[in-house]
Amino acid sequence: MKKASIILDKDYIIDRIDPRIYGSFIEHLGRAVYGGIYEPGHPQADEQGFRKDVLKLVRDLDVPVVRYPGGNFVSGFNWEDSVGPVENRPKRLDLAWFTTESNAVGMHEFADWAKKADTEVMYAINLGTRGPEQARDVVEYANHRGGSKYSDMRIANGRKDPLGIKLWCLGNEMDGPWQMGHKTAYEYGRIANESARMMKWVDPTIECVACGSSAYDMPTFGEWEYTMLNECYDNIDYVSLHRYYGNPTGDTPGFLARSMDLDGFIKSVVSICDAVKGRKHSKKQINLSFDEWNIWYHSLEQDEEIKKRDRWSQALPLLEDIYNFEDALLAGSMLITFLRNADRVKVACLAQLVNVIAPIMTRNGGGAWAQTIYWPFLHASKYGRGAALRALVNSPVYDCADNDAVPLIDATATLGDDGSVTVFAVNRDMKEDFCLDIDLRAFGPLQLKEHILLHHDDVKAVNTEENPCNVAPTAGPGGTVDGGRAQIRIPALSWNVIRFA
Ligand code: AHR
Repeated sequence: MKKASIILDKDYIIDRIDPRIYGSFIEHLGRAVYGGIYEPGHPQADEQGFRKDVLKLVRDLDVPVVRYPGGNFVSGFNWEDSVGPVENRPKRLDLAWFTTESNAVGMHEFADWAKKADTEVMYAINLGTRGPEQARDVVEYANHRGGSKYSDMRIANGRKDPLGIKLWCLGNEMDGPWQMGHKTAYEYGRIANESARMMKWVDPTIECVACGSSAYDMPTFGEWEYTMLNECYDNIDYVSLHRYYGNPTGDTPGFLARSMDLDGFIKSVVSICDAVKGRKHSKKQINLSFDEWNIWYHSLEQDEEIKKRDRWSQALPLLEDIYNFEDALLAGSMLITFLRNADRVKVACLAQLVNVIAPIMTRNGGGAWAQTIYWPFLHASKYGRGAALRALVNSPVYDCADNDAVPLIDATATLGDDGSVTVFAVNRDMKEDFCLDIDLRAFGPLQLKEHILLHHDDVKAVNTEENPCNVAPTAGPGGTVDGGRAQIRIPALSWNVIRFA
């Protein structure tokens, strides 16, 4: 058996893990809202039309924050369309996805859903076709106690207490030429600055996320961050990052190594934030909101056909990627990467949550089930709380198309507030099991409590409504703990959660 080792120490802490790194995202896109979280008439629908089977799957993930209502959608969205009596709300053409938005679910309904899902709303404002004025108004509507035009409008619409939304996205991917109201970095930096200032004058307790590049490989990457941060540094709190990976050529080792690109992306944005900090002689640190991350490629071709065929229809089955086992492994490594960067990544949103590139799938009128990527997310969210440990990992490496020296064992660890230690590890080796030697001597007497394993012999295995547990966690082979050294067997191609208490 191959060997790898990890040395852990309770004093080697990266930072406390912000629970919001286990956030997610619901956009008015495809069947995320209509047919996803909301399906009146469905046997599982509650009195408001929210699917209880979906709520249960979401609650089990323990998602602290859900970004809403977009995404690309938000760059043409008028928040006022989504409040007030439903029968008076306009139907709008959505130029982001070429569908029609009914506005049947709006701000109040989504806030109600979030409460039922035990989560908080992270609200994105439109800085594409709109500007600081509407940004100010929507904060007043959502968060002001009353006695002003928009707060009184909220009260008249049936909600006396403020919604208390704490985290606000200043637009979405404004560097992207596909975006309605796409801007240059300078234009965006100015509008983001003025919006954030006015929003915080209305409610000084909110935090604001400025749009970073929509991807690491955008031609404007770097220059965008630097220029826009120069304009809005003092008034914003986070820079957003978005990243999706795919494996169209079926190169599994190369695909599993993509989390190294993610790490490089994070480190580059941190450097740019700190460069602007230095230039400004500022004491303030800007952290990162990785508010869109996932695997996205399975549905791309199919979506082009659907969009051509059914332009302007409602709730089209768009971006319905069916995730396989190797996708779950990469999702696991992406989560490990966020933990390793817990000192700067304070928010991260798995994009998205239901039906649209999502861990949860539904059939209209039918069941709801967990896709493969649901499991690493659930494990990290459940056990990856407390402090992120600086794990010293020693593993054999491999070279692949885009990366050299990729560790075969990708691992990190967390220290729970109850003194428990959890190791998260992906074995990227296609064939061989590993013996993972974990040095836990610094923690006193710990016992192996549980080894959770996600493995399938077929990297392309998927879950379906008929076979929802095809790729599901099982008990791992575990191992021994002796004198503060654990020896755990990590099967080839697997996601592992090793819990010590
Ligand atoms: O999550 C799907 C889309 O990906 C979002 O609408 C957009 O922000 C990104 O390009």
